[in-house]
Amino acid sequence: MDHFEELRHATPRRVQDAATLADLDEIEATTIGRRSIVAEARRDLGKIKDPEERRATGRAINDLAADIALQIEVRRTELHTSEVNATLEAERVDVTLPGRVPRRGTHHLIQQTMDEIVDIFVALGYTMVQGPEAETEFYNFTALNIPSTHPSRLESDTLYLEYGDTADEILLRTHTSPMQARHMESHDPPVYIVVPGKVFRADAIDATHLPVFHQIEGLAVDDNITFADLKGTLGQFARQFFGPDTRVKFIPHYFPFTEPSAEMHAYTQGEWIELLGCGMVNPAVFEQVGYDAETLTGFAFGMGVERMAMVRHGITDLRTLIDPDVRTLEQYR
Ligand code: PHE
Repeated sequence: MDHFEELRHATPRRVQDAATLADLDEIEATTIGRRSIVAEARRDLGKIKDPEERRATGRAINDLAADIALQIEVRRTELHTSEVNATLEAERVDVTLPGRVPRRGTHHLIQQTMDEIVDIFVALGYTMVQGPEAETEFYNFTALNIPSTHPSRLESDTLYLEYGDTADEILLRTHTSPMQARHMESHDPPVYIVVPGKVFRADAIDATHLPVFHQIEGLAVDDNITFADLKGTLGQFARQFFGPDTRVKFIPHYFPFTEPSAEMHAYTQGEWIELLGCGMVNPAVFEQVGYDAETLTGFAFGMGVERMAMVRHGITDLRTLIDPDVRTLEQYR
């Protein structure tokens, strides 16, 4: 009974001093658990012969055990609450912290220029379409009234993917004009389209040549399209792209798929610069695609995207545009 009294006195303090739930579990095991003083006392009850004394002792043991159990439960609740609070405090998220802003990438100058030019024409009512980079000889040349003897068809100018002896070889398109024919073949008039994309020519790289570059084609076909519409549309484009004071002039030129044909030049930054090729759609092209060449008229144009970007930004070497150095790229964000 001695250590029984000791247990009664010492336990409240031990329970209060328990710093963790694990400490408390330990105290519980040694005081009222299966191998505790209390458990031992219960086992020894049978040794007490007098029923009265046995009952009284049993009650005393139960009372003490219940008392200790209650103390432990109270302390357990306290410790549990403070451990939860400590976890909440440690894992607290400061929702007022600004987020981590990822480094922003940017489109390449060529893509930016292409997007901007396409947007100008979309605002005028044009639709953007795209075509295959691997073309057939038919769409790239024949449908556009380019004679079979034309020098641009030669392997020295055009990159053929398969060059055998079939009538319609596969090649890398040398301009975006094949989409004129492809689009008209599968769409009824009126047509108002712009076609941005990559084009390919068998050129070695130097300051003014790249074997891969970009063009934007335009085609308008309707009932009463005149050369005045061509001049008005392309003049409007030049003023929007280079500034409201930009003057343009049209110089006669030759393309097999337009008749008459012209080059548009613009006066910008103190000089006249050739910007693009254009003209009224040649009725021979309408016939190739099954359009009524008697009643329909239209104009077409094709411009080099690299050229537009170079003129706008005063870039003098085309190779700047294929320079992967971020210091170059960052100038045109
Ligand atoms: N396809 C011509 C070129 O690559 C440009 C052009 C397009 C000219 C449409 C007239 C009409 O040079």
